[in-house]
Amino acid sequence: MTRMSRKMDHVRHALASGQSGRNGLSEVRFVHNPLPDTSVSHISLTTRIGELTMRSPILINAMTGGAAETEEINYGLGEAARLTGVAMAVGSQMAALRDPALEASYAAARRANPDGLLFANLGSEATPEQAKRAVEMIRADALQIHLNVVQELVMPEGDRSFEGALRRIERIVRNVDVPVIAKEVGFGMTMSAASRLLSVGVSAVDCGGSGGTNFARIENARRDRPIPWFDDWGNTTAVSLLEAKEAAPAGRLIGSGGIRNGMEAAKSIALGADAVGLAGALLRKLREEGVEAVAASIRDLQEELRLVMTAVGARTIPELQSAPVVIVGDTAEWCAARGVD
Ligand code: FNR
Repeated sequence: MTRMSRKMDHVRHALASGQSGRNGLSEVRFVHNPLPDTSVSHISLTTRIGELTMRSPILINAMTGGAAETEEINYGLGEAARLTGVAMAVGSQMAALRDPALEASYAAARRANPDGLLFANLGSEATPEQAKRAVEMIRADALQIHLNVVQELVMPEGDRSFEGALRRIERIVRNVDVPVIAKEVGFGMTMSAASRLLSVGVSAVDCGGSGGTNFARIENARRDRPIPWFDDWGNTTAVSLLEAKEAAPAGRLIGSGGIRNGMEAAKSIALGADAVGLAGALLRKLREEGVEAVAASIRDLQEELRLVMTAVGARTIPELQSAPVVIVGDTAEWCAARGVD
C-alpha cells in the first residue's frame, strides 16, 4: 500500500463509516435560564487559542493532503474557511516532507484562503526541523501535533513504538515560532495526558474524543484480519473534555470528536473548550454537496451556537465556559469513578 493510496483510502472509509458513534454529549445537559438578560445580536463568538484570536470557535479540523485528489479537497475546505472566517487545519504533512512534489496538495488550502487562520499538522515522530518546514510550507499560524496510537496499532504498516513523544513535542514547542496544539484523532484525552502536554508548553490540547470519525474502524476496514476490540476503544468527547478540564481549569482546550451541531459545540465549550473542531462531517458535506454547502453548515452551526448562548444567558465564549451543566448517565458514572468534578 503506497502512502498516496492510503490517504484516499482514509477519505473513502471515513465517508463510508459515518458518524454514528456516541460522543457522550447527550449526557451533558444545560440548566435552563428563564432570565438570560441578553439577545442574539449581542452574542460574541470571538475566542482564543494561545496567542491566536479567532473570530469563531469553529475549526475545520485536520484531514488530508499528500495525494493529487486531496488537493481539491484542501482547496474546497480552504474556500469554505475563507467564506465563513473560521480556522482550518491541513492533514499530516509528513508525506510532503518526504516528497516535496506533494506540497501543492497542502498549499491548496493556503491558496484558497491567503489571509485566514491555517494550521499545519504532523505526528509526534516529527523533528523540530520538520515542524518548521511544515509551518513554512503553508505559512501556518499554528502547528497541530497529532497523537494516534490506536490508529497506528490497527494499521498493518503502522508505528509500533511510541516512546519519547512528550519530549519530542517539548522540543518542537521550543523551536517553532507558532503556537503548538497537541491533538488526539478520536480516541480521547485523559487528565494525566492533558496535564503532561500542557506542562511542556503546548498552547492547547485538542481532546479528540470518541463518538465521531473512528480510525480503528477505518483501519480495520483496510485489514485482512480486523482487530475488532479497538473499534469500541477510547474516551468519549464529553469524558475527554471533563478529564482534560480537571488538568486545565484555565481552558486551553479544543473539543472534537463527532460534533454535529451548534448544541454539541455549545456543550463542548461549557465543558471547557475554547474552540470546537469538526472533520468527518464537513468532509462528507464537501464530497456530497460542495463548498457552498460546507460554508452553509458552518454558518448554521454558528447561528445555532448563538441561539444556545442566548438561552443560557452567555454573551461570550468565556461566559459559556462557566454556564452550569448537569452530567448524567454513563458520563456521570465515569466522572464519579475517576474523581472528576
Ligand atoms: C482525519 N484526522 C486527522 N487528524 C490529524 O491530526 N492528522 C491527519 O492527517 C488526519 N487525517 C484525517 C483524515 C480523515 C479523512 C478524517 C475524517 C480525519 C482526524 C480529525 O482531525 C479528527 O481528529 C477526527 O476525525 C475526529 O473528528 P470528527 O471527524 O469526528 O469530527
